[in-house]
Amino acid sequence: MKGLSEVQKAAVEELLAQMTLEEKIGQMNQESPSIVGGFDVPFEELIEMMTDGRISKQEFEHIMSSATQDFHEDAIRKGGVGSLMVQDPVKVNELQKIAVEESRLGIPLIFGLDVIHGFRSVYPIAIAEAGSFDTDLFERTARMAAKESRAAGVAWHFAPMVDVARDARWGRVSEGPGEDPYLGSVFARAKIRGLQNDHSSTDNYVAACLKHYVGYGACESGRDYNTVSMAMHLFYNAYLKPFAAAVDEGAMTVMAAFNDLNGVPCTVNEFLLRKTLKESLGFPGFVVSDANAIRECVTHGIASDEMDAGVKAAIAGMDMDMGTGIYAKNLKKAVEDGTVPMAVIDEAARRILSVKMWLGLFDHPYVSEETMARYTVLPEEHKALAREAAEKSVVLLKNENNILPIDPAKKVALVGSLAESEEEIIGAWAMSWKKEDCVSILNGMKETFPNLKYFPCGGPEGDISMDEVIAAGDYGDVIVAVLGELVSMSGEASSRADITLPGRQRELLEMLMHTGKPVVLVLMNGRPLALQWEDLYVPVIVEGWHLGIEMGHAVARVLSGEKNPEGKLSSSFPYVTGQCPVYYNHMNTGRPGSKSKFTSRYLDAPLGSLYPFGYGLSYTEYSYSDFKVAEKEDAFEAVVKVKNTGERDGRETVQFYMQDVTGSLVRPVKELKDFRKVALEAGEEKEVSFTLFKKDMGFFNNEGIYCLEEGAFRLYVGGDSRNCLMEEVYLKEV
Ligand code: GLC
Repeated sequence: MKGLSEVQKAAVEELLAQMTLEEKIGQMNQESPSIVGGFDVPFEELIEMMTDGRISKQEFEHIMSSATQDFHEDAIRKGGVGSLMVQDPVKVNELQKIAVEESRLGIPLIFGLDVIHGFRSVYPIAIAEAGSFDTDLFERTARMAAKESRAAGVAWHFAPMVDVARDARWGRVSEGPGEDPYLGSVFARAKIRGLQNDHSSTDNYVAACLKHYVGYGACESGRDYNTVSMAMHLFYNAYLKPFAAAVDEGAMTVMAAFNDLNGVPCTVNEFLLRKTLKESLGFPGFVVSDANAIRECVTHGIASDEMDAGVKAAIAGMDMDMGTGIYAKNLKKAVEDGTVPMAVIDEAARRILSVKMWLGLFDHPYVSEETMARYTVLPEEHKALAREAAEKSVVLLKNENNILPIDPAKKVALVGSLAESEEEIIGAWAMSWKKEDCVSILNGMKETFPNLKYFPCGGPEGDISMDEVIAAGDYGDVIVAVLGELVSMSGEASSRADITLPGRQRELLEMLMHTGKPVVLVLMNGRPLALQWEDLYVPVIVEGWHLGIEMGHAVARVLSGEKNPEGKLSSSFPYVTGQCPVYYNHMNTGRPGSKSKFTSRYLDAPLGSLYPFGYGLSYTEYSYSDFKVAEKEDAFEAVVKVKNTGERDGRETVQFYMQDVTGSLVRPVKELKDFRKVALEAGEEKEVSFTLFKKDMGFFNNEGIYCLEEGAFRLYVGGDSRNCLMEEVYLKEV
C-alpha cells in the first residue's frame, strides 16, 4: 500500500500469516455500541415504535434511561471486531486495551466517526465551505478537524463526502461540495491532504473515507436512498471525478453508497468496487459499507438472504461490514464451503491492517493523557479558523440600494427564532461540538450592533407573533430576518418535495415587508431553496447556510461591513422546486430553452436557475476585460484583466470554463476547469492567467475511454457561470 514502508508491509504480511480465518474476518467487522436492556425488541424496532407513535417520546426516554450500551468487549477480546464507532477517549482507551492486551494477536481497533465539517470546532457545512472557493481553507479546516478528533481517539473520519449533487430536493446536498465535478475534485483533494498528510505526529492525521461511492447524489427525484440510473459518460465525467481525484491524492478508505447504480447496489457492485476503484484507479486502502447496507441488499432484491448478501459483498470487494454482523456470522462458513475464496478474506484483512499500520496504531494505540487534555478549552486559533471559514462562506445574493452594510449605530430589529439558536447554526452531521463554543447570530450581532433588539416573531415551524412583527417594525431602522431550515430539514433522510422556505416564513416576510422598513433576509439552510418570491420582493438576501460554531460573528461581520462578502454558490438555486434538478453544466439539447414555444422550457417557470453556480455579490464591483487566449504547443494560455471598480477592498473568485462545442458525444455548455481567488484593493486591477492543457480538454465516452478530439472549443472567464467573456479556440489533431 502507498505510504507504507517495506518494514511495515512486511509486518502486515507476518501478522496476516499468524491470523486464523476467524481473526481475519474479525478485522472485517465494524460494530457500534448496541443499546441493550430495558426493552425486549431490537433497538431499531424501538426507534420505529416511537417514530410511528406506538410508544410516546416520554416512554422511549424512560426505557432508554434504564438501558445500557454493549461495547462488544467479548467480541473484541476474541479478535472479532476490527473497528468501532466511539468518540470518547477514555472509552476508546478502555476498548483499545482489551484489543491490544487481551486478544491473541493484539491487533488495535480503528475508531471511526462522521466528522464531516469539523469535530469540536464545527465549520460551515460542505456546500457552504465549497462556495468559498478557497482551496487552502479546505485543507486547513480538515487538518484542524483531524487534530481535534485524534485527541478523542478518532483516527478515521467518514469524510469527505464528495457526491456530485444537482437536485436540491435531496437533503444530503448539504454534506458535499455541490454540483460541479471540478470544484468537487479540488475540494476532495484538499480534504485528503488536510486529513491525512501531517505526519509530524500520529496525533495530527487520520484516515479519510471518500463517500458515498458512487452516484448517490443522482438518486431519482431527489428522494434519499432512491434508485440511480445514469449513462456511463455521466458516471465517468461527473460523478466518479471527485472520487478518482481523491484516490489519486491518496485517500485511505472509501465508503460504498446505499443506492443501486444501474440495477446493481454499490455494496455488491464488483464493477465499481474491484474493476473501477481497486484496479483502474489503483485504490490501495479498504472499502467499508454504509450502515446496514449489506443487510439492505436483501431488501434491494439483489440477495436472497443475509448469507447471500455477505457473500456477494465480499466477492465484490467490500472489505468491511458496517454494523450488520453479517460478515462475522457468515463468512467463515462461506470460506469453508468454498463460496468465498480465502484470497478475498486475505485481501480485505491485508487492506485493513495496512491502514491501521499507516495510522501508527500498532505503535501508538492509545490516546495519551496530554493529548486528551489538549482541547479541553477550545484554543483561540481554532475559533479563529472557524470564523474565517464561516465568513468566507457567506454569499451575498441580492443587495438593492446598497442597504448593506448596516451602520452599527443603526437600530436593528433582529427577527426569527433561528437567530437565537446555538444548535441550528451547526448543520447536519456534527456531533462533537460544545454549546459553550457556539455563537448564535443574536449573540454575534449584539456585539456589533449595540442598538439591536430581538423579536422572535416565528421560524421554520409554528405560528407568527403579530405583536412581535409590529414591535419589530416600530423599533428598527432596519429589519434583519433570520429565516430558513432547521438542521433536521437537511442531511440524511431529509429530502423535501417543496424547497421553498418551510412553514409560515414567507408569510412572516410579507408582514415584515408591510412594516415599510428595509428588510435584510439572512438564510440559514442546508440546501439551495426556491426563492422566486423572495428575489422579487425582498431587497437584500444573504445566504448564511449553517456556518458552524462561529456563525454569529461571521454574519455580524458581513452585515456590518467589517467583512466584505466573498462567497459564491457551489450549487444553483432554482426559481421553483419543479425545476429540480437544475445545474449550470447541462447539455445544450437540440432545442435549448428560449421564449419560443417549441424549446426546452416550462410553461410556468422561468428559464434556468435563479442564482447560478459560481454566483455571489460583493460590497464592491469587479470588471473583466482584455480576455486573450494564446495557443502553445501543449496548452492554451488565457489571460484576463480584473478590476475592482468600487470603493472597498475585496476578494473575487475568477472562474474559468470550457465548452467542447462539437464532439463524438454531446458535451456540457460549460465545464469549470480552474478558478483563482484574487485580492483586489479598491481601484486595483490585476491580470489573472489560466493554463488549459490540451490533454485535459477531453472526456470519457460510455465505454470509459478517454477521448481527446479535434474541434472548436469556447473558453469562458467571469465571476460566475453565467456572465462570462468568451474566446473561441480550435484544438487541432492531438
Ligand atoms: C449513515 C450515512 C453515512 C455515515 C454512516 C455512519 O447512514 O449514510 O454517511 O457515514 O451512516 O454514520
